[in-house]
Amino acid sequence: MRPTQSPYPATRLRRTRQSAAIRGLVRQNTLTVDDFIWPVFVRSGEGIEEPIPSMPGVLRRSVDKVVDAAREAADLGIPAICIFPYTGLEERTEDCAGAWDPDNHANRAIRAIKDAVPEIAIMTDVALDTYNINGHDGFVEDGEIVNDRTVEALVKMALSQAEAGADIIGPSDMMDGRIGAIRQALESAGHQNVMILSYAAKYASAFYGPFRDAVGASGALTGDKKTYQMDPGNSDEAMRLIERDLTEGADMVMVKPGLPYLDICRRVKTEFGAPTFAYQVSGEYAMIKAAGANGWVDENRVMLESLMAFKRAGCDGILTYFAPAAARLLRGG
Ligand code: PBG
Repeated sequence: MRPTQSPYPATRLRRTRQSAAIRGLVRQNTLTVDDFIWPVFVRSGEGIEEPIPSMPGVLRRSVDKVVDAAREAADLGIPAICIFPYTGLEERTEDCAGAWDPDNHANRAIRAIKDAVPEIAIMTDVALDTYNINGHDGFVEDGEIVNDRTVEALVKMALSQAEAGADIIGPSDMMDGRIGAIRQALESAGHQNVMILSYAAKYASAFYGPFRDAVGASGALTGDKKTYQMDPGNSDEAMRLIERDLTEGADMVMVKPGLPYLDICRRVKTEFGAPTFAYQVSGEYAMIKAAGANGWVDENRVMLESLMAFKRAGCDGILTYFAPAAARLLRGG
């Protein structure tokens, strides 16, 4: 119950806004570098840092350069990095075998970072879209994205990442049953301490556009992902997905995209109390960068305000391409 509040003038709500000192004192939520997971894109080659036009400031890096980036992130105090592979059309196949190749560039990056920057936690992406000839997160048979055969492949992919040294497995595919299957496989293989951060409430969103350019999936993708990603009109279904994934063995859960789905973040935190993350996705990043570049908004302030919004909505952390820039700002330079 809300305590009763005396009427004006006994209550003047502006009293606690009168100075920076008092505002700091009564502030409910804080944003710190501990809140960030930084998504990075890794590609083949050496010495390569390639800009992504739809994501200004974001690079596709070869393994050696991803290691440098991880070093820089750790030095800024960023606790975790998330590896996404970029694959050209020529590296994509119908059987998606690259996804569980122990030597694919994502797995090579995991090993190299573990070696050089052991203090940063490494998260992965589990889905077939970065290896699939048609850009879908699962196998396609007669136009249908098939579930159970895909789950078997996802398990192999997750195991190869755990073997490479990943700390947090990130299934982003939205197939049914994958969390339980991956958890069981990790337990059997002796990877009891490997965590799963499930993309549990992932919506079929137009905000992923720039990411699909970044991983090389835009040209490849046929059709849409509406038979496995969620309908933006739904909220209760997100709760069922979160409950299901926690029951199957997820340690942490994610809502994606971020800002347009803060109501879902709040419901997840209130109803489950589990470690809750949001993904401020590529389209959200691109919009802020574009408006900033045009001088239409103050980019740095909008960045920090958008990240604070996730904390207010109940998130424990945020996957954000802004992680290094925000970390620098929070350090005061
Ligand atoms: C797919 C995946 C996507 C993102 C992360 N993993 C895109 C999709 O579902 O098509 C999007 C991230 C972003 O937009 O920043 N496995």
